[in-house]
Amino acid sequence: MQRLFTGLQPSGALHIGNYFAALKPMIELSQEFPDSMLMVADYHALTSLKDAAELRANIIEVGRDFLAAGVDPQTSIIFKQSDVPDHTELAWIFQTLVSVPFLQQAHAYKDKVAKGLEANAGLFAYPMLMAADILLYDSDIVPVGADQRQHVEYAREAAAKFNHAYGETFKEPRERILDAIATVPGTDGKKMSKSYGNTIPLFGSKDEIAKAVMSIVTDSSGDKPENVYAIHKLFRHGESLENLYAEHKGSYKTLKEALIEDIDALVAPMRARHEAITDEEVKLILVKGGERARERAQTKMAAVREVIGVAI
Ligand code: AMP
Ligand code: TRP
Repeated sequence: MQRLFTGLQPSGALHIGNYFAALKPMIELSQEFPDSMLMVADYHALTSLKDAAELRANIIEVGRDFLAAGVDPQTSIIFKQSDVPDHTELAWIFQTLVSVPFLQQAHAYKDKVAKGLEANAGLFAYPMLMAADILLYDSDIVPVGADQRQHVEYAREAAAKFNHAYGETFKEPRERILDAIATVPGTDGKKMSKSYGNTIPLFGSKDEIAKAVMSIVTDSSGDKPENVYAIHKLFRHGESLENLYAEHKGSYKTLKEALIEDIDALVAPMRARHEAITDEEVKLILVKGGERARERAQTKMAAVREVIGVAI
């Protein structure tokens, strides 16, 4: 049996890039692999978000997003990272096994430094916390977008370093990145990201979706608005997509209107569920998920403490 694990940061409203790269694969594969785990990465978000009220609200919001998107809390464990202290404990142990130059190669850290910004030590150690998230549960498959490929490599490296030092303890996980959705572009053609203001929100109203789609940057060379098409192919496939673009060649407004309808057809039922889920329901599911996750994590950590020599 293969175990799936993924995490999303509660750093703002989820967008369609998050959905196609991480949430949708988790929902689809959880039929085949029950027992999968979906984590709200609140301690990762702390590396960039310092407002308690905002973090609290975002955690609930992301939990609600998971449920509304169709994650089943019976078959999958939905939990938040900070409810399982073993994550930060194991991250510390991994930090003692990897070198500073190795962590200096991490994109998130490098990009921050390249922009002349100050990186906190948490951001520097970020890949080891993510390695702990994944390895603590003997996860096999990690569905993510292309921007997380390197982080999963770091997790494999942490497992290998630990196993080399203390004997076979951790499985080496694999990322699952689908070519078609590895990097979902935003309305400006760059990677869609909460921090770039170029997103199409997953649970936006139809007006919000329309506003975002209408703002997609189009270029008048070529016979097809590439940025619109790149997003549209997530929602419509094969001949149906090709025929639409052939029929309305050059008519960008019509194509954008068709995209709005296609996005709304997928989002409308999720949005309806979203509105019906209360904060209390989300909190309860996170509490229960946290209990199940802690049970698993504690068993693994007991073995880790034993092999590293702190259990006396
Ligand atoms: P984050 O919002 O950084 O916590 O990302 C959550 C998940 O969504 C991760 O698996 C990311 O790789 C994925 N993701 C974020 N933005 C995109 C994007 N534009 N295209 C594809 N995947 C993405
Ligand atoms: N770093 C991931 C992101 O920003 C979120 C994350 C934290 C994660 N822990 C994880 C993803 C474990 C997969 C597995 O998108």
